Amino acid sequence: MIIAIPQECQQGECRVAATPLSLNKLLKLGYQVHVESNAGQYSSLTNQSYSQAGAVVQVDADQLWRTADVVLKLQPPTLMEIERMKAGALAISFLWPASNIPLMEAAAARGVSLLAMDRIPRISRAQKMDALSSMANIAGYRAVIEAAGAFGSFFTGQITAAGKVPPAKVLVIGAGVAGLSAIGAARGLGAMVRAFDTRPAVKDQVKSMGAEFLEVQVEESGDGVGGYAKEMSPEFIRAEMDLFARQAREVDIIITTALVPGKPAPKLITADMVRSMKSGSVIVDLAAEQGGNCELTRPGEKYQTENRVHIIGFVDFPSRLPTQASNLYGNNIANLLSDMTPGSDGNLVIDLNDQVIRQALVVHQGKVHWPPPPLETPVPKAAGLVAISSGPTAMDRSLEKTSRSPWLWLGLGFVGALLLIGLVFEAPPGFVQRMTVFVLACLVGYQLIWNVAPALHTPLMSVTNAISGIILIGGILQMTGDWYRPAVLLSAVAVLIATINVAGGFLVTHRMLQMFRK
Ligand code: NAI
Repeated sequence: MIIAIPQECQQGECRVAATPLSLNKLLKLGYQVHVESNAGQYSSLTNQSYSQAGAVVQVDADQLWRTADVVLKLQPPTLMEIERMKAGALAISFLWPASNIPLMEAAAARGVSLLAMDRIPRISRAQKMDALSSMANIAGYRAVIEAAGAFGSFFTGQITAAGKVPPAKVLVIGAGVAGLSAIGAARGLGAMVRAFDTRPAVKDQVKSMGAEFLEVQVEESGDGVGGYAKEMSPEFIRAEMDLFARQAREVDIIITTALVPGKPAPKLITADMVRSMKSGSVIVDLAAEQGGNCELTRPGEKYQTENRVHIIGFVDFPSRLPTQASNLYGNNIANLLSDMTPGSDGNLVIDLNDQVIRQALVVHQGKVHWPPPPLETPVPKAAGLVAISSGPTAMDRSLEKTSRSPWLWLGLGFVGALLLIGLVFEAPPGFVQRMTVFVLACLVGYQLIWNVAPALHTPLMSVTNAISGIILIGGILQMTGDWYRPAVLLSAVAVLIATINVAGGFLVTHRMLQMFRK
């Protein structure tokens, strides 16, 4: 199959959907890759770098579109581009389906399938394909760089012979993916950072990045379904705006990223607050595209107010870091295609039973599949995630099932208790003692694994090293006498499994620590 990477035609779009790095992965999956000549020019990627990586550089754009089985893009394809595609081909790009119904209908009529990268659900399994998070991460970083460019002073405090410079004070509103990235970048430049979010769950993350977490007196949590943000009560919004009004007089830079999925951005910074800011201060409004968190934001523009406050409302932050953004986006798509190519034989398999594909594939086989059915997978309670569905999750249903059958558990418990009492009277004392330890160990193990959220299973593996260590010593102590004795054989199995666990635990811990090392 041929995968095509055309040049983006939207003005100002500097990214490209595949780079020589991600292209390598596509070739390994057995695809032929055709790249339009100069497709990577604004991301500093030459035609030569693509051909050296193994792609065919195509000068004839029309030929590229007509021969492609899969087209990879960033911006949604235009109607003209859909016309150029052959029937049965697939286009993968950001699509924003809710506002692109005519485009989806045109694609369906032409027999072209569309897969929306912005509809990849933010579930654990799909994190490697989550292009929205990759781009939000870049946007948060770039927001700080733009703020630093407009701000007339250092971020870090300095004491020089010429005088003392205080550190810049930065307020980040909304600590989702973009917000946390902005906090990291601002802290890295040496600023004093404070942050606010409606979800108390992010407090520890904010603090762990060296920022101060601001709070209001109103008792209300912003955690919605599945741990995602929900719309707050007017009382809460009033309280946080009072907080921002006080902060606006004090801070030098405000970066706003507040958004509840599917809603317009809440207006949190009023014109009066902007007027109260020091001249030379900067506001970067990342939510500009959804109307902006600041009343005075002009989407797509950067300007100065009368009292000399810079307001930056760009809607293309990731495109302002094009090489990195292209690399991450290219990797997200390569990971998606890797899942869709189980045989690594260059043949794409569209599996509608795969929830990720079902959510993102909005046009297929001449039909518009929008909106998709509610997501069934339980979503992890992590920072900055977008609510995909409001229906009960598979986990909710299994919990419901469990709570509906208390009699079954009671019956099983009763039978178990009878068996144990029988054993106490019949079995030798040593056996009873070991059995008690075994049952308690099963209970502890069960609680340990099932009470921990799946997202935390990796750190859990490091912690269970301690338990595996106990098993290891116990097993070694039991391995005395003839090797064929059942106790020795069982101990050997226990030692083997515990050793795998300990070694695996160290490996995982090592990899986790590497992630935090600069
Ligand atoms: P996210 O959903 O991960 O984070 C949004 C955060 O805002 C959540 O933590 C939520 O709890 C918080 N929030 C919601 N209502 C709030 C309120 N009233 N007060 C305080 N916090 C509140 O979203 P993500 O991915 O971090 O994106 C943030 C924004 O950046 C979005 O508007 C997104 O569209 C925008 N963005 C803009 C780009 C650009 O080029 N301008 C590029 C990428 C993202």
